[in-house]
Amino acid sequence: MLLASVLLIHSAKAKPLQKSLKEVINTALEFSTKQSLLMAKSLENKPAELPRTTNTFGNLITCKPNNWVSGFFPGVLWYLYENKPSEELKTLAVNYTHRIENQQFTTSTHDVGFIIFCSFGNQYRILNDTSCLPVILNASISLSTRYNPSVGLIRSWNSVKWKYPVIIDNMMNLEMLMWASQQYNQPEFAQIAISHAKKTALNHFRPDNSCYHVVNYNPETGNVDSKTTHQGYANESSWARGQGWALYGYTMMYRFTKDSTFLNKACAVATYLLNHPRLPEDKIPYWDFDAPNIPDTYRDASAGAVICSALIELSGYVDKNKSRKYLAVAEKQIRALSSPAYSNAADNNGNFILKHSVGAMPQNSEIDVPLSYADYYYVEALMRFRTIINN
Ligand code: GLY
Repeated sequence: MLLASVLLIHSAKAKPLQKSLKEVINTALEFSTKQSLLMAKSLENKPAELPRTTNTFGNLITCKPNNWVSGFFPGVLWYLYENKPSEELKTLAVNYTHRIENQQFTTSTHDVGFIIFCSFGNQYRILNDTSCLPVILNASISLSTRYNPSVGLIRSWNSVKWKYPVIIDNMMNLEMLMWASQQYNQPEFAQIAISHAKKTALNHFRPDNSCYHVVNYNPETGNVDSKTTHQGYANESSWARGQGWALYGYTMMYRFTKDSTFLNKACAVATYLLNHPRLPEDKIPYWDFDAPNIPDTYRDASAGAVICSALIELSGYVDKNKSRKYLAVAEKQIRALSSPAYSNAADNNGNFILKHSVGAMPQNSEIDVPLSYADYYYVEALMRFRTIINN
């Protein structure tokens, strides 16, 4: 009787056993591989289509190569091949990457950076395949055509609503230019990217280091015309994925330049995010930090994944204290995203890895669905954290 009550007390107090982070990551990478192979095979006979999201019944919705998300699935396959090389994964990764090769000549949007660098950039990094080099060079030239020296920024979208819109997302496309500048010994690519990042730091941020989504410039004078949103709740709100793009973008710019102003900006954004009173306990943000009805609104797993991947990189550039803080948040995010709360059931939901992302709430588009870029930055974060654990 006594023994039984002692055991009871013990079991009441015992914490549930938590899997090691290494175990979580390895299981997540295995699951991601299974899902992505199923996904790749489901589109084997549709050579001009790439995964985008799902419909309300959980069926796969695809996109054409010119969609801004087309490069993410090829990138997922490359990360998974890097994790555990196999001929099957390599053949599929090459196949999906080459589906979007013609996008290297796209000059109508800044997204050419996302499209070509997540796909061909990873193929070159992992295979050292020199056939990717002309593609990335052409894409960098294409992106550079969108730079207007009078403004000092790359124009993000061609739009009738705005004359010269620059969105915070554009920070992500600078990675291809910075890389290409070194690879092809073309200083202009870096000059464009650095000018863009500096002017964005000047005009996109509020005093609390949250950022606007869209800043519209006057193309003649380079002055700011307006500061607004497209995918956020309101012009003055903090759209969650946009904050993620900012964190990732400035961290990446510091990687290439070692310019402390970029590091300081990344850390300031991290401070804003990590201290935000409406960042939930599992560290996966609501779709907008100022969304009405918090906590009764949607999370955005894609924002969580982008922030997670960025924090892991940023942890390598700061003192021990900050580094520990960033990694602790990233660990929580990885554990959350890898749990049934955000990971799809196997062979389900179009074979995406994650669920619960938000594409564009004000447009009533892609709400609480899987998104290919959520999967990309999640798998990247898994690979980045695994490298830290293994070192
Ligand atoms: N770059 C578009 C988005 O983040 O939704």
